[in-house]
Amino acid sequence: MLDAEVRELMQPFVLSDYQVQEVYSRFCLEVARGLKRSTHPQANVKCFPTYVQDLPTGDEMGKYLALDLGGTNFRVLLVSLKGHHDATVDSQIYAVPKDLMVGPGVDLFDHIAGCLAKFVEKHDMKTAYLPLGFTFSFPCVQLGLKEGILVRWTKGFDCAGVEGEDVGRMLHEAIQRRGDADIAVVAILNDTTGTLMSCAHRNADCRVGVIVGTGCNACYVEDVENVDLLRADFKKTKRSVIVNAEWGAFGEGGQLDFVRTEYDREVDEKSLNRSEQLFEKMTAGMYLGNLVRLVLLRALERKLIFKQSSRRPEFASVLQRNEEVFETRYISEIEDDSFPEFASTRKIVRNLFGLEKASVEDCQTLRYICECVAKRAATLVAIGVSGLVNRTSNRRVIVGMDGSVYRYHPKFDAYMRQTLQKLVKADKEWDIMLSEDGSGRGAALVAAVASKTK
Ligand code: BGC
Repeated sequence: MLDAEVRELMQPFVLSDYQVQEVYSRFCLEVARGLKRSTHPQANVKCFPTYVQDLPTGDEMGKYLALDLGGTNFRVLLVSLKGHHDATVDSQIYAVPKDLMVGPGVDLFDHIAGCLAKFVEKHDMKTAYLPLGFTFSFPCVQLGLKEGILVRWTKGFDCAGVEGEDVGRMLHEAIQRRGDADIAVVAILNDTTGTLMSCAHRNADCRVGVIVGTGCNACYVEDVENVDLLRADFKKTKRSVIVNAEWGAFGEGGQLDFVRTEYDREVDEKSLNRSEQLFEKMTAGMYLGNLVRLVLLRALERKLIFKQSSRRPEFASVLQRNEEVFETRYISEIEDDSFPEFASTRKIVRNLFGLEKASVEDCQTLRYICECVAKRAATLVAIGVSGLVNRTSNRRVIVGMDGSVYRYHPKFDAYMRQTLQKLVKADKEWDIMLSEDGSGRGAALVAAVASKTK
């Protein structure tokens, strides 16, 4: 049985029906404001047009390179589109050293170009002409398919000299500086766009793409007449365009203050990008573990967990060591654990605190804390998804999803569905589908569709 006091501790994370409805209304309003030219500058859900106007048909063919920057790893991929909704992907993961994440931007792009060159050499393609799709998962103003001006860094990146610059040009210049491969940057896209495209490749009804990973964001297909910022010449021939919502920034105008907790404020205050990406800080993998860590500290202070142990102050100092000690993946492992053995939970507690055998009660308390933090994240994501699904003109809407939190948390999908059921309009038929490598396959598809359009 859970202590009433533990329930009370977690109460601020439990969203009431009223709060869910209210967040939903405020979110929908921000999307509308982001799309309109007159309100766009003040809006915090920016709704940037991506210039991706054609969804794949499934019969795309050819070899494409893809780069994926913006999660925990940086990847280079070779994607072979084979027609018949089929593709194969060969990829290599490279580390982005911490100092490159916050160093001069030119160094970051030189590192990327270096990895690209190694990859091409390894695949014996140094002399081949290769079109490249660049999945760059940060907020960008796109001026066309190939140009993306970085608005701000997120997710712990902070390289000097890139904000306000065209990242397509920076990558192109880094490739040119080396001069050892014939690679053309043909498209820049967000990971959400990649997710939508890769799901649409297999299911033609996909209209929304969502990432809940290190960061959190979504894109969707919008009618061109609603997208004021799309250049007029792009409205003549096509009816719709993918819009990158950049919903991570939702709440920066105070819209979420009525649901944010003291823990959310602390996460924000200690972050590299203070007052920014407030919705992201309640939903994304980069922050969920930290939220649990802060709640645990409070639980220790109030003697709500590890009550029997005199080592509580020692446990608290472990948690105070740094913001990453309680990893987000622990949340998934703990929620996946079975009662009353709690094998994974006990292992986590043992590794963190050196506590040999946590009691069943402690494990249950820890699990409840994780559950409340994850469920709130899933509910908020589903509020956003409902807003976008309800905006699309299709009756049947598939939501393509990806990201480590969604993929590995055992109940994230189920939590989301509970809220979607409440908020998606009754005349819509919806479902969620897991994306298959959106950042790679999706990038290749955008590149392929771009070449086709030409
Ligand atoms: C970025 C988005 C991205 C998301 C998921 C956010 O921090 O602003 O562009 O889609 O992370 O990777």
